[in-house]
Amino acid sequence: MYSRIIGTGAYLPEKVLTNFDLEKMVDTTDEWIRTRTGIERRHIVGDDETTSDLAYRAAVAALDSAGTRPADIDLVLVGTTTPDLIFPNVGCLLQERLGIRGGPAFSLEAACSGFLYALSVADQMIRGGQVVRALVVGAESMSRIIDWTDRETCVLFGDGAGAVVLEASDEPGVMYTSLGADGRYRDLLYASGGVSDRVRQAEAGTLKMKGNEVFKVAVKTLESMVDAVLESNRLDKGAIDWLIPHQANIRIIKATAKRLQVPMERVVLTVAEHGNTSAASVPLALDVAVRDGRIKRGDLLLLEAFGGGFTWGAALVRY
Ligand code: UT7
Repeated sequence: MYSRIIGTGAYLPEKVLTNFDLEKMVDTTDEWIRTRTGIERRHIVGDDETTSDLAYRAAVAALDSAGTRPADIDLVLVGTTTPDLIFPNVGCLLQERLGIRGGPAFSLEAACSGFLYALSVADQMIRGGQVVRALVVGAESMSRIIDWTDRETCVLFGDGAGAVVLEASDEPGVMYTSLGADGRYRDLLYASGGVSDRVRQAEAGTLKMKGNEVFKVAVKTLESMVDAVLESNRLDKGAIDWLIPHQANIRIIKATAKRLQVPMERVVLTVAEHGNTSAASVPLALDVAVRDGRIKRGDLLLLEAFGGGFTWGAALVRY
């Protein structure tokens, strides 16, 4: 028994913030942002929109492309680090909006790796026979936890959502997933403003990152993770048809592609248009390349992400 992706969808909020807009807000330049990160613009959630609104739009598009009715979904799972409320979780809010009843619905927080974590959990639940059809979403309103006076972080992030419908199948499918974490790095990348930490609550929901140090660990960790994915699946370098990476930084993506010997024409890049949308970035990129016809049925995909925690994850998928 495998799980297979039978539909994808995505949603980006209307408002666009360009590097030139940011030049007017903080001491930065379009040139610095483009050369250091690859980002040119990012989408920003509307004042009256929430993460579950973005998730809902992406989910409707994914259900539509799968030809699946909400009533046929028996698991709703959302990777997010910017929920609407403390509870009910975004999975429940989404389930309600879609009119789905009864099955499990939850969200999980693994920062930028949230979608990979969610995909892996949903895949295991399908393989275990607990669930037949799952809606798996990555959705974020990162702009809500950004310090818009901090040039080291405010130029990096964007908002959006991506979703897939997974279905039980005899054919692969999600062939392999791998997840990891190392909490010792908690202070290199975090967002304060949680409810139980009285001291850090005073910092009120802002993202802090030591970018340069995160960069080094990200490159190293992703390189050893993709080596392990190839080895565990007895795949040669170059065997991957499409790399769908987390879109944090073009330089990190290039290092991973080089390690895999995947040419850059075979890497799905959305970083210029979307920026770093955290848990949404991988399903957003997947949807873009499915809809523009680059990714075809039968292609071998490697999805990967690295983020706060630190957390990381990869999935090998026969599309
Ligand atoms: O998604 C979760 C995981 N996150 C990541 O993977 C992000 C990883 N980190 C990165 O992508 C990069 O480290 C950054 C893009 C955040 C920064 O690039 P960098 O090449 O590591 O630059 P840096 O932090 O070493 O800073 C270089 C210089 C510094 O100035 P000095 O000290 O050399 O005078 C910074 O103050 O660039 C300066 N700087 C800026 N200059 C213009 C930092 N931010 C900006 C800015 N505009 N926005």
